[in-house]
Amino acid sequence: MQFRFIAPCHFGLEKTLSFEVKKAGGEDVEVADGKVCFSGDERVLVRANMSLSGAERVGILLARFKAVTFEQLFQGVKAVPIEQFVGKFDRFPIKGYSLKSKLSSVPACQKIIKKAMVERMRSVYKIGYFQETDTLYQFSFSILKDEVCFMLDTSGEGLHKRGYRRFSNAAPIKETLAAGIADIARVRGGDVVCDPFCGSGTLLIESAYKALNIAPCLNREFSAMSWSIIPRELWDEVRSELKEKERDCPDFKLYGFDIDPQAVKLTMENAEKAGVAKYLEVSCRDIADFTYPENASCILCNPPYGERLLDKEQAQRLYKIMGERMPVTDGKRIFVITPDEKFEEHFGSKADKNRKLYNGMLMCRLYQYGVPPLSVRRHDKVSNI
Ligand SMILES: C[S@@+](CC[C@H](N)C(=O)[O-])C[C@H]1O[C@@H](n2cnc3c(N)ncnc32)[C@H](O)[C@@H]1O
Repeated sequence: MQFRFIAPCHFGLEKTLSFEVKKAGGEDVEVADGKVCFSGDERVLVRANMSLSGAERVGILLARFKAVTFEQLFQGVKAVPIEQFVGKFDRFPIKGYSLKSKLSSVPACQKIIKKAMVERMRSVYKIGYFQETDTLYQFSFSILKDEVCFMLDTSGEGLHKRGYRRFSNAAPIKETLAAGIADIARVRGGDVVCDPFCGSGTLLIESAYKALNIAPCLNREFSAMSWSIIPRELWDEVRSELKEKERDCPDFKLYGFDIDPQAVKLTMENAEKAGVAKYLEVSCRDIADFTYPENASCILCNPPYGERLLDKEQAQRLYKIMGERMPVTDGKRIFVITPDEKFEEHFGSKADKNRKLYNGMLMCRLYQYGVPPLSVRRHDKVSNI
């Protein structure tokens, strides 16, 4: 079967995700704000869930239409053959959101959509009441500027849940964002990667996944695993196929430092769970005592912002110390994510590039040093999905 998929992502990571999508076999890739759409069959569905490091989830896009009245919303949803997925006894809950649209009440939209789905199911299964006790099919909708997207989730838990980070420190970076940063930094198997504020180790682990070509969600469960339309053996087949593509890189190395001994312990534990501990050395160190580890080629960090950790002034003092301890020198790529618009001033050096990236709702910038100009691929179609 052919599907149209929709994969939401962090604002600022759409382009990076679109490359991953193509690698996973996605076709007709379209990039829009905070999401990437693509087409593919069941195999692409499975591969996308297991391998897309920057996607928050993978949904099947069932319908896209304009609606400014409840009747239009009702008819638009009722026209979708959800019975292709949902059986007589299956569960089919609906959730969603509405932004900048005439149909602004989410509970009211939810009610109308559920009514349309039930009516459709009644006409197909010829029963009046649905017990909804079996397999879960989680539907969702978004209404943005009066355009409705009606979707079916295939992932279940968000794809940032890789399974290696059961515990984290006070302000961890989300795995999907960390993966995007590692992608932008072009971490490769020959790199020596270092994070002087490693926290729970997310940037290091996601860097290792990139360098070693490890699919981040290889060993977790997905909602669509219990669906009858996806052959059971496909999950094992794709898992083996992706496993075969993993590589061992003897020169690859990870160094993590943090002032907090708990963070140091956590980074090692998480790296062990992620299966990349053999590449990692981690120790307790204040940035004031930092020096580059031997052959360090790529420095990634998410220092305190003065939001959840430290206050603004303390954070800025830290950025000044970073400038002294992390000199911008040839052969080192440095990437720092922070919301501080004056970061370069405190750090004492102007970035070669900076890129807007959202850390949750917080607008940040990824300051990039020692980065040669990228050959930006301009052929991707940009549209309003
Ligand atoms: C925003 S967190 C980093 C989170 C990390 N990226 C993760 O995914 O868990 C900032 C880290 O900087 C550490 N830190 C704060 N002050 C420091 C200093 N002076 N030197 C080194 N590390 C410091 C904190 O202990 C914290 O773990």
